[in-house]
Amino acid sequence: MTASLFDDPPQSVERIAIDDGAWLLRGWALAAQTQWLATVQQVLAAQPFRRSLTPGGRPMSVGMSNCGAWGWVTDRAGYRYSPTNPDTGLPWPAMPVFLRQQAVDAALAAGYPGYAPDVCLINQYQPGARMGLHRDADEMDWQAPIVSVSLGLPCTFLWGGLERSHPVRRLSLLHGDVLVWGGATRMAYHGVQPLKDGQHALLGAQRWNLTFRMARTALAGGLPRCKSAQ
Ligand code: SIN
Ligand code: FE2
Repeated sequence: MTASLFDDPPQSVERIAIDDGAWLLRGWALAAQTQWLATVQQVLAAQPFRRSLTPGGRPMSVGMSNCGAWGWVTDRAGYRYSPTNPDTGLPWPAMPVFLRQQAVDAALAAGYPGYAPDVCLINQYQPGARMGLHRDADEMDWQAPIVSVSLGLPCTFLWGGLERSHPVRRLSLLHGDVLVWGGATRMAYHGVQPLKDGQHALLGAQRWNLTFRMARTALAGGLPRCKSAQ
């Protein structure tokens, strides 16, 4: 493991098993919250939140930014990873070393070594914004976990099963929580209920979610289980 260049991850954080392969690292990002917020602000200065359309042409209620070699985008052409912002044709801002290392450390804390995220999607939820039940399925290597960081207002996260029809559980995700899922539940359905109004001491009336993914990078040492190979 590479030592973090910045704050060390807290050792005493509660690690809650949510499901097979899915862990909630409660308050994991709190120890370095100032750096988290400042670093995300830097990314947002270079790439402000964009309001995208679903492939069906409906506006997303969530604002989106990206950093890293790839970014997740949606418009009438579909859901996909793009190396550039479709509005400007410019590459996304580089993923700050701090964010990348934190994601690598969180994945390791959840039992996933060798994490190499090439995307950090940043979602902005304002009161009422929601994310429908979906699976993260546009990535090349489905063996690589998802690392999802919550900042700002709390939300009710929906955790389902491998089929859309499976029962859904409700989890509270709080400022500083990190959810990591991979292995047997990598393809679990998940979503976010409409954000309740409120004021967070640091972020005001919003929630940020950072989702780290390996979109076009495969985990070392294993054959990628590609979507196209299924
Ligand atoms: C997502 O699944 O893309 C977002 C999840 C979240 O906001 O917690
Ligand atoms: Fe997702």
